[in-house]
Amino acid sequence: MSLASRVKSLTPSPTLEISAKAQQLKKEGYDVIGLGVGEPDFNTPNFIIEAAKLAMDEGKTKYTPSSGIPELKQAISKKLKQDNNLLYNPEEIIVTTGAKYALYTLFQVLLNKGDEVIVPAPYWVSYPEQIKLAGGEPVVVETSEASQFKLTPEQLESQITEKTKALIINSPSNPTGMMYDEKELLAIGEICLKNNIIIVSDEIYEKLIYTAEKHVSMAQLSPKLKKNTVIINGVSKSHAMTGWRIGYAAGPQDIVKAMTNFVSHATSNPTSISQYATLAAYETDTDPTLEMRTVFSDRLDTLYNMIINVPGITCDKPSGAFYLFPNVKEAVKMNGFTSTDEWVKALLEEEKVALVPGSGFGSPDNVRLSYATSKDLLIEAAERIKRFVTSHQ
Ligand SMILES: Cc1ncc(COP(=O)(O)O)c(C=O)c1O
Repeated sequence: MSLASRVKSLTPSPTLEISAKAQQLKKEGYDVIGLGVGEPDFNTPNFIIEAAKLAMDEGKTKYTPSSGIPELKQAISKKLKQDNNLLYNPEEIIVTTGAKYALYTLFQVLLNKGDEVIVPAPYWVSYPEQIKLAGGEPVVVETSEASQFKLTPEQLESQITEKTKALIINSPSNPTGMMYDEKELLAIGEICLKNNIIIVSDEIYEKLIYTAEKHVSMAQLSPKLKKNTVIINGVSKSHAMTGWRIGYAAGPQDIVKAMTNFVSHATSNPTSISQYATLAAYETDTDPTLEMRTVFSDRLDTLYNMIINVPGITCDKPSGAFYLFPNVKEAVKMNGFTSTDEWVKALLEEEKVALVPGSGFGSPDNVRLSYATSKDLLIEAAERIKRFVTSHQ
């Protein structure tokens, strides 16, 4: 059967691919440690689950407005004020089927054929594919470890053409865990304003920060920057709610209106029950992320200290998210492999540790290790990686 040309160049998500391979080995009875996952290994807090049950009992199981139930949009507006000191009215907010679909919809309503979107690498795997699906051109800009994988103003300026429509900023970043500070964002933001470039600010890891650094949103820096920014966020990572599929976008009303029209013909609305669960998540006075943050911080210290002691592996300590993104170039060479992908494959086959090769994130000398798994398993995984590297020397 002949498929549409738009899907022919789509590459499957490398994170899901490695998870599938690890699952297969597990099924065959092998003791596999999977460090490929991109979701918290915590259950959704009970009070959120109870709110979903109540919503079902109360018959809140029907279609909702396409941009989300008004109560939830109001709660998100309040969250943006409290956490980010940003004023968005409900008409400037759309609730979506995960942050992923907020991004997908945003590119669909922003991009004409050939419009360019600047994507700093390493990047989250879905950005380039979503841009291409919308007819746009991802312009991948390689960042360096020297700048902690952050885009510099000079790099940005050198990539701007008359077709540049948008720039993606993801802070804290998946896969590197690095964060931009206010000064860095301001320098980038000013260039975007000068060139009329929309900033897509993916803030999904906002709540998972383990240093004294403060999360800063591009939209906070000036009223002009707020007008040029669309914030993407959601509850998948902050509230361990990946399966509920609730995200949102906050931005200029005309963009949000176009997104609402688009989703009204695509998904109609995000699941009603999940919206009521998310309402409870945002309305609580407690901080549901606190426990997760404490545990992740401890695991980060443990895994980081072990990984930097493996010969041929170097790594900057990340500030947020739940990934390490070490450079394994020397180890790959030392171990006699021709590529990181091969090294990752052999590590899985021999030591049964599943990592994601950096090639999928546009950074082929690195690998991504998720620490969304127990501390004991992280210690065991780091020991196996060290054994693998030293035994192949
Ligand atoms: C950087 C980044 N943005 C967006 C998403 C999508 O999150 P959601 O589960 O809300 O669709 C992810 C999930 O892995 C992510 O890592």
